[in-house]
Amino acid sequence: MSLDNEISKRRTFGIISHPDAGKTTLTEKLLLFGGAIQKAGAVKSNKIKMHARSDWMEIEKQRGISVATSVMGFNYRDTKVNILDTPGHQDFAEDTYRTLTAVDSVIMVIDCVKGVEIQTEKLMEVCRMRNTPVICFINKLDREGRDPYDLLDEIEEKLNIKVQPMTWPIGMGKSFKGVYSLYDKSLHLFEPSKTTVEAGKKLEDIQSPELEKYVGESDAEMLRGEVELVSEVYSEFDKNKYQDGSTAPVFFGSAVNNFGVKELLDCFIDIAPTPKPRETEIREIAPNDNKFSGFIFKIHANMDPKHRNRIAFLRICSGKFERGKNYFHVRHNKAFRFSNATAFMAQERETIDEAWPGDIIGIYDTGNLKIGDTLSEGEKGLYKGIPSFSPEIFKEVINKNALKSKQLEKGLNQLMEEGVAQLFTFEMGNRKVVGTVGALQYEVIQHRLKNEYGADCDFMSINLHKACWLSSKDPKKLEEFVKSKQRHIARDKDGNLVFMAESRAWLQMIGDNFPEVEIHNTSEF
Ligand code: G4P
Repeated sequence: MSLDNEISKRRTFGIISHPDAGKTTLTEKLLLFGGAIQKAGAVKSNKIKMHARSDWMEIEKQRGISVATSVMGFNYRDTKVNILDTPGHQDFAEDTYRTLTAVDSVIMVIDCVKGVEIQTEKLMEVCRMRNTPVICFINKLDREGRDPYDLLDEIEEKLNIKVQPMTWPIGMGKSFKGVYSLYDKSLHLFEPSKTTVEAGKKLEDIQSPELEKYVGESDAEMLRGEVELVSEVYSEFDKNKYQDGSTAPVFFGSAVNNFGVKELLDCFIDIAPTPKPRETEIREIAPNDNKFSGFIFKIHANMDPKHRNRIAFLRICSGKFERGKNYFHVRHNKAFRFSNATAFMAQERETIDEAWPGDIIGIYDTGNLKIGDTLSEGEKGLYKGIPSFSPEIFKEVINKNALKSKQLEKGLNQLMEEGVAQLFTFEMGNRKVVGTVGALQYEVIQHRLKNEYGADCDFMSINLHKACWLSSKDPKKLEEFVKSKQRHIARDKDGNLVFMAESRAWLQMIGDNFPEVEIHNTSEF
């Protein structure tokens, strides 16, 4: 089959939400409708609940689960759907940000009782950075939730995106009767816990008396009024506006009851974008460029600590990947053979012979790959767009066993390559500081250093506000700045210069006093 044909069949998306909105449940139902799993309960939640904070078994389990549920592929209506799951826990936000660089669109789950929550707002900001198209699924309509207009207004306001309702709910909570699809003018009646889905009842004319037959007189009247109002308030669905990230189509449903999920999936297949061109340092590469290329966005340590193999997740951006072929590793400037690539199909991992743009494959790695690496058929540009963001918490690493310094160094480097946290090494005194977005990572790092590398360390809190990357058009000015602020200069894991700012005010002052030095909040500028 031709490359263009394969590309047009791919839909690669991420599923995101505030914890507990129903992401895991919706993922499972999508897999059920896609025929990828046969019964509910097969997809394990990858969330860490708050009470599990210091429960090591829970963290270990989490690592296993998140490999299993990181990527789930299935075929539906002659389309290859790839779902990328993201950790809902905010302490793993970096992982989510990176995963979002590998998708072509996003489905965002919102709880109709709670509305837009903080984590949802943060994730939306990340989507907006790359104009990623977003579909919202308002979940838990079987509960007494907020008024649908209120919810839509809140999405527009807090997520700063125009909305386009695609379905409209008939009642809510105890009186929830179903949804009317504004997209294909069909009526879907709600029956709790239904496991099969019949096609909706076509109602070309919502004025038809048939509506009364299905939902009763008062609901029929209410629905007609609301549909009229909705069509006045919101314009017609425009696929281009969705695909350029300026409008979010919205669906209503109840994932746990299998309701509204099939409509979501069917519409998603119709409107969601196929793989698009992506920028490298050298040029934009289209997915139908004949030469293979892709990048690593996630690295996962193997569960068995005795074997330090890791799985690197590669997003294919162009051409065709073939097992056993030599590919060019841009950062190492040399060719490698990847003979053991695997595809992720629902809960299974299977060896694959070929893969196409939009696909995510797993590559077993013994330390050659790290996040952000590009593989190609010889071209030298690295894919752009996996920046590091300044962490929010900083702690200095204190080695508790001088005889194990080597192990500590190796362990820290490898964990950082997996993207567990960020390591900064001060120029003066070689002090090492680990920066994270959440406190939970320190426990994970300490535990893994001990168990996998035999290294023992403590973390000491230090007073830092931000780590900012530095650049200047004038290398001399940058050198002068670095000299004058030596105590506050560190290097990140790739050797880039970083300014370790102690306070917001101080950062501001530096900006004012050294206008020739540019201070960046992310590693990519
Ligand atoms: P998450 O991955 O976004 O964190 O959420 P998850 O799917 O785990 O769902 C969180 C809770 O919400 C679960 O209940 C789940 O059953 C429930 N839920 C999901 N969809 C719906 C829905 O449409 N209606 C209602 N009423 N509840 C829904 P739990 O009690 O935390 O877990 P469980 O014991 O049911 O698994």
